[in-house]
Amino acid sequence: TDLPALLRTMPKAELHVHIEGTLEPELIFALAERNGITLKYDGVEALRAAYAFTDLQSFLDIYYAGASVLLKEEDFFDMAMAYFRRAADDHIVHAELFFDPQTHTARGVDIGVVIRGLSRALDTARQDFGISGALILCFLRHLSEEDAFATLEQALPYRQHFIGVGLDSSEQGNPPEKFARVFARCRELGLHLVAHAGEEGPASYVRDALDLLHVERIDHGVRSIDDADLMHRLATKRVPLTVCPLSNQKLQVYPDLRDHSLAKLLAAGLCVTINSDDPAYFGGYLNTNFLATFEALPELRANHAWQLAANSFEASFVDAATRTRWL
Ligand code: ADE
Ligand code: ZN
Repeated sequence: TDLPALLRTMPKAELHVHIEGTLEPELIFALAERNGITLKYDGVEALRAAYAFTDLQSFLDIYYAGASVLLKEEDFFDMAMAYFRRAADDHIVHAELFFDPQTHTARGVDIGVVIRGLSRALDTARQDFGISGALILCFLRHLSEEDAFATLEQALPYRQHFIGVGLDSSEQGNPPEKFARVFARCRELGLHLVAHAGEEGPASYVRDALDLLHVERIDHGVRSIDDADLMHRLATKRVPLTVCPLSNQKLQVYPDLRDHSLAKLLAAGLCVTINSDDPAYFGGYLNTNFLATFEALPELRANHAWQLAANSFEASFVDAATRTRWL
């Protein structure tokens, strides 16, 4: 049997992709030109050459600089449509997209511009590619609780356009507890809750995301492997982990993919999924992540491929009827 062909063609859901992380250098320069913005990089090659990351923060600095070319509703639409074309190629049938409104509102871009552009792309992707999409609003954890509350307030007129909230950006020193009250409010509003935890930060941040934020999924969560009790809890409760192998490699969480914990997490019975995180920056979209992971971890076979695809649907926030149809 042809395992790479199975990985490429099996229907799958993507649950951890930052839409700003899908901005390819070519599109960054095209949007800069369209908007009359001058970048500090000389061209596509110079920008790509700067994609040599030592840790999460070294990536975030470049990622926020790249996002600075996004000004108009059309820019957000074009960015998301470029992602959906790639997603269709990768046989993704459902995608839950993170977006970082504070990256844009801090530059004077209205949150409505962001959400309308993305939301229109979701509608178009459903029509053109048959892909169902949903938006998850992420709070930047390096900013204050107050800023997060203000962002939630600005987003509420667009409540029907997003299904949940997440927490991203610099993890170390910005623990889950900093956002306990904002997440409590979001929970009252009936929003789905997720958070990045245990990417660079310790396993205790995963535990705190569950206990203090009441999240339904953990984004990354790979450091959970350090805590046997937590592993048992994640397995028995089927708390999904949205793991991003190429991201972990590029940000030096696992500099060698052959050391990645994914196979061990799966073997321990966790609901592990594979995702691309910021594919324009980390060397590939979802199928590239699947192919690289299965090549680096030869214990992964066809049954694991099916398990990962099934997990992606189980972990998704689609309605129960759709989930059952996919599974
Ligand atoms: N924002 C975009 N990608 C991220 C990641 N991998 N971790 C934290 N914040 C992010
Ligand atoms: Zn992420």
